[in-house]
Amino acid sequence: MPLFVLTGAGVSAESGIPTFRGRDGYWRNLDPTKLATPEAFARDPQLVWDWYRERRQRIRNARPNAAHEAIARLAHHTEEFLLVTQNVDDLHARAGIPAQRMVRIHGDIFVTRCSRCDFTEKGSGGSPEPPTARAVQPQSGRLRSIAPTSDDHLDVPRCPRCDKLMRPGVVWFGEQLSRNELERVEDFLDGGACDVVIVAGTTATFGYIIDWALRGSRDGAELIELNPEETPLSRFATRLVREPAAIALPRIVDQLIALG
Ligand code: OAD
Repeated sequence: MPLFVLTGAGVSAESGIPTFRGRDGYWRNLDPTKLATPEAFARDPQLVWDWYRERRQRIRNARPNAAHEAIARLAHHTEEFLLVTQNVDDLHARAGIPAQRMVRIHGDIFVTRCSRCDFTEKGSGGSPEPPTARAVQPQSGRLRSIAPTSDDHLDVPRCPRCDKLMRPGVVWFGEQLSRNELERVEDFLDGGACDVVIVAGTTATFGYIIDWALRGSRDGAELIELNPEETPLSRFATRLVREPAAIALPRIVDQLIALG
């Protein structure tokens, strides 16, 4: 029974990770959808890094919830399975979904990469923060380190290879998705129709999320939307579940496993 699952921030909400568009998503009165942009980083890299550091810390302290665990159970139970998550946290992975059965289409919050060259550092949920020690590279000795000029971004790491600013290794608004990851999704969907598609905890604001959900559920597959609120995908769903993911997913997964 081929199964395709798409998840968004709502699946991690019950682990204490704020969603992007919910009321609790605001940070220092700033709209997260305006912080997760190349423009915000160009304007104020320190502010963007502060936000990402806080989110990394929150994710380190969080645990996968019953929704992550239910999806992992499904992945282990189903031969043809793919999870595409928009979440940059590592809670699906920590719940036990193997990397080859999951596409993290918006990247990984624990990756730090150079904004110019291809230098990349991979941290993990338990790792220390990326190299703030390299953030300040005094060029003119003591004076600069005591009295930083307005050009200094004290907590913005710099690339050890080319000295450009390092940035979080996630996909921001307006940026291209990774070609590799896109191909993995396309390959799965080209492999044939699914029996069941589950879309959980996402506002489905991006066209590619809607497109993938519809392609996966072509030829009469069941399309289950799990979200307390209506989304642009709701009218296409064959089953609407208006409950929190951590409550409804364990039940839905039990039903699917019982069906074989
Ligand atoms: P959003 O914050 O836009 O939406 C979260 C969705 O989860 C909403 O539809 C809520 O109704 C729903 N929700 C809230 N609590 C829930 C719960 N307990 N159980 C189930 N659903 C719940 O997050 P995403 O749709 O994931 O992209 O956002 C998509 C992308 O936009 C993000 O990956 C990020 C963002 O800006 C980038 O940064 C590129």
